[in-house]
Amino acid sequence: MPRLIQISAEDPAAIRAELVAGLQAHCPALSPKFLYDALGSRLFSAITELPEYYPTRTEAAIFDTHLEAMATALGPASNLVELGAGNCEKAARLFAALAVRRYVAVDISADYLLAALDRLQYEHPGMEMFGVGLDFSDSLALPAEVGDGPRLLFYPGSSIGNFAPDQALAFLRRMHAACAGGRLLIGVDLVKPSAVLESAYDDALGVTAAFNRNLLLHLNRLIGSDFALADWRHVAFFNRAESRIEMHLEAARAVTVRWPGGERRFAAGERIHTENSYKWRPADFADLLTAAGFRNPRAWRDERDWFAVFAAKA
Ligand code: AVJ
Repeated sequence: MPRLIQISAEDPAAIRAELVAGLQAHCPALSPKFLYDALGSRLFSAITELPEYYPTRTEAAIFDTHLEAMATALGPASNLVELGAGNCEKAARLFAALAVRRYVAVDISADYLLAALDRLQYEHPGMEMFGVGLDFSDSLALPAEVGDGPRLLFYPGSSIGNFAPDQALAFLRRMHAACAGGRLLIGVDLVKPSAVLESAYDDALGVTAAFNRNLLLHLNRLIGSDFALADWRHVAFFNRAESRIEMHLEAARAVTVRWPGGERRFAAGERIHTENSYKWRPADFADLLTAAGFRNPRAWRDERDWFAVFAAKA
């Protein structure tokens, strides 16, 4: 049986305060983590199937092609810790090649990991499996139950892209500490032509728009606000100076949004910034890994150079 450990359930009052502060800011902004309620998680999973959204399938193809080379470079990894594990599909592809004996799946909510881990445990009865509910953007302190010793930290999907470079450096330093002398394996989306990036984040079917706009429905439940979907449109563009995709929600007309204890007026065209997704140059990301304390970074890429999987030693 997989073991589930919930470390920190977030305090609803603190969440409300954070959201209201974000709405009231001079440049309104909300954390992308609020995109992932139950519907948002399903919409994200639909995004990964879109023809325009290349990251998931490009990363998978890199693993398919280079798994043996990665296994040789990494060596056996009896302890595999995956951050943002979700459906645990990506780690499962590594089990055999890396001779994994203990798998620790970390995600914001342990409940969400249960079904995926149950299924994996059934397929791999001899492995030890843990599901850890932890907001790892705050802390990477893993519970004692998961055991110590060197770990392979696995952070796929280019989720590191949500962090600005200085935050990414701080987060990589914490990963360096958390892998206890082991290794890191991380997926990174790369800089490429704006048209490719922008259609990946503003697809023809409108799934990414739905994913972004659904944040308002989630917000309405979390703070009791009265955002009306018809007033808000999805905006996504590549900010090349900052090397990031930005997603915003833009007011289609002047609107006043109310919630218990407050309100804000938005002018027509005013935006709420909902996500950044940074794109890296391979050499810059290798330097970032080194600055965080990792050694011998190496990368495998697809033939278009759209995505990279980096391995490094702690
Ligand atoms: C889950 C953060 C990797 O940045 O590509 C996809 C999220 N947002 N489409 C990304 C996302 C809009 C995704 N990450």
